[in-house]
Amino acid sequence: KEDVSASSKSRNIVEVIEECDKKAVVIYASQTGTAEDYATKFGREFQSRFQLSTLVADSDDYDLDNLNEIPEDVLVFFFISSYGEGELPDSATEFNEYLDTIDEGDLQNLNYTIFGLGNSTYEFYNGAAKKVDKDLIKAGATKFVPYGDGDDGAGTLDEDFLAWKEKTFETLKNTLSLKEVEAKYQPAVSVVESAELFSSSDDVFLGEHHRAYLVEDHAKLNLGPFDHSFPYLAPVTKSKELFISQTRHCIHAEFDLSGSNLKYSTGDHLAILPPNSNEEVDNFLKAFGLLEKRNQVVVIKPLDTTSSHSFPSPTTFDSIARYYLEITGAVSRQFLGSISEFAPSQQVKDLATKLSKDKDLFHKEITSKKFNISDALLYLSQDAPWTTVPNSFIVDSVPNLQPRFYSISSSSISEKTTIHVTAVVEAETAPTADKKYVTGVTTNLLHSLEVNQNAKNDQLYATYDLDGPRGKFSATKLPVFVRRSNFKLPTNPALPIILVGPGTGVAPLRGFVRERVAMAKMGTKIGKVILFFGSRRSDEDYLYKEEWVEYAKILGENFEIVTAFSRETSEKVYVQHKMLEKSKELVELIDQKAFIYVCGDASNMARSVQGALATVLSKEKGITEDAAAETLRKYKSINRYQEDVW
Ligand code: FAD
Ligand code: 2AM
Repeated sequence: KEDVSASSKSRNIVEVIEECDKKAVVIYASQTGTAEDYATKFGREFQSRFQLSTLVADSDDYDLDNLNEIPEDVLVFFFISSYGEGELPDSATEFNEYLDTIDEGDLQNLNYTIFGLGNSTYEFYNGAAKKVDKDLIKAGATKFVPYGDGDDGAGTLDEDFLAWKEKTFETLKNTLSLKEVEAKYQPAVSVVESAELFSSSDDVFLGEHHRAYLVEDHAKLNLGPFDHSFPYLAPVTKSKELFISQTRHCIHAEFDLSGSNLKYSTGDHLAILPPNSNEEVDNFLKAFGLLEKRNQVVVIKPLDTTSSHSFPSPTTFDSIARYYLEITGAVSRQFLGSISEFAPSQQVKDLATKLSKDKDLFHKEITSKKFNISDALLYLSQDAPWTTVPNSFIVDSVPNLQPRFYSISSSSISEKTTIHVTAVVEAETAPTADKKYVTGVTTNLLHSLEVNQNAKNDQLYATYDLDGPRGKFSATKLPVFVRRSNFKLPTNPALPIILVGPGTGVAPLRGFVRERVAMAKMGTKIGKVILFFGSRRSDEDYLYKEEWVEYAKILGENFEIVTAFSRETSEKVYVQHKMLEKSKELVELIDQKAFIYVCGDASNMARSVQGALATVLSKEKGITEDAAAETLRKYKSINRYQEDVW
């Protein structure tokens, strides 16, 4: 999205609150946009239900060092997401620094509460939100309702939020005697249909994320800095299928950075902002009765002057659905509840309202069928379009399209101006009569590119407009940016490394191995590399099978790959089982100060691998499992044990 954030506005939050007579503030710290989305929904509903003007603010848009001067009757809600090892998002660096400076008693006037967004499969679940809470309590702030945890890992983020929100509203009604009115939608933007239809007009946003793309400001386009609101349009120069299978796919894709200022370092993540598939765009437009009007130019303006983000405007209905909104993914109960007031008939409205109020029924009728927004709307209305939904509601209430992250599988030493990613294609059939494919947006786009680039006739689960408007988002160019990570090789290349990465978890580890190969070729002394890789079968999904042989030729005895194929024998064989078999060798490497890297599935694998390592240490060193676990925790704290898990 084009970011027109606060540069022209005051960075003094107290000034804005007083000038605009705000009675509540929702401050979010968001890594990928989820916390922003929840904060915005919450702020709107709070304002609408209690008729209290509410400011929704990115923690980055204001200097927050005068939090204590916010008038005492103004309620402050924080929506904080955690990233990495329980850290605050990158965008909240200044807020984080400020928190480190506050002392006891500094925030005695502040009335706040927090909703944390995190993932319980990570060790430091909601670590950032908990830290903010602790710091605010220490500084003497008052929490008017209890803190809430939202868990994306258990897939309950939406339900956790709804439960916390209702409890919060109930408490506020009781303790502060807030008067509640029936929540009605209040638009935050105006969407006006322009008289002109899209021709080839150059000032209409057709998938671009920044105005510089419209005016073809090449110097800026190649210079960056590149981020979410200003991605680089990177040519996809190569794409290759890595699996040998009719039904499962994994794509190796290469992005060319030459000619741009976009840099990365081995172990970083590539973010891709994908367009939605043709089928989903059509379905979405159909649900709102906009198919015929898809090329209508619309002008979108925020109605609230304190709003920090603007929607790309002017644009078209097609582009809104294709490039800027998250139109797939499971529809939320909250969304269905809020859109029900615009149902095409009373009967549909009653049904939508009933489903939105009944968690179990919603699960049975909507979630278990894997319905997205348009599936659910068309199902409820029996295919009748929801033409009475205001266009502003679509822009306001459907979440903004989020970037997807991929662990970079190349090395910045061997591939200075090319980024490789290794992505497994997400697709499954919906348990509904039509057996429609439920697909992941980015991975199916990469699959489409692969099939297209290699002129194959393969079955596609979803199709994409690969030519794109104005040829910009063509089969060969995608908006990307790099996110720095802490997943890094030891600075001393002579130290041994233990790499564990089943499935696509091998992606950044391939980057590490390529880096050591490049260094060995330059004559640098390299420490031993042992890689534990796991997949289902050696003849189906053994990623980069031929490459490892080539690396071994260069690294010689300093490279060893240990494989675990889980579906070749009657009993499952996983990487952690192979690690136990290699316990002596692993401990020898650890004694030589080896760094340990684990990448891939966060829910079970990473934990099992940590358990296996503790067993290995305990067995070989003759110490208790607890003492071994403590050693591993220490390694983590000094970055000798690093994880890149998702
Ligand atoms: P999305 O569109 O994001 O969909 C996500 C899932 O939801 C899919 O499985 C999809 O089928 C399903 N879905 C869609 N609609 C519905 C519905 N209505 N109801 C229920 N389910 C639905 N992945 C890799 O392959 N390789 C990597 O190297 C890699 N590295 C990562 C590194 C990090 C730090 C992180 C956070 C993630 C990483 N991932 C990696 C995962 C990756 O970011 C994506 O989540 C993944 O590729 C899916 O993206 P997508 O756009 O294809 O699917
Ligand atoms: P499975 O699917 O046969 O159970 C890459 O996905 C590989 O990781 C597959 O071989 C998969 O095996 C395996 N895998 C699944 N769960 C795992 C776990 N908890 N720990 C380690 N590997 C696992």
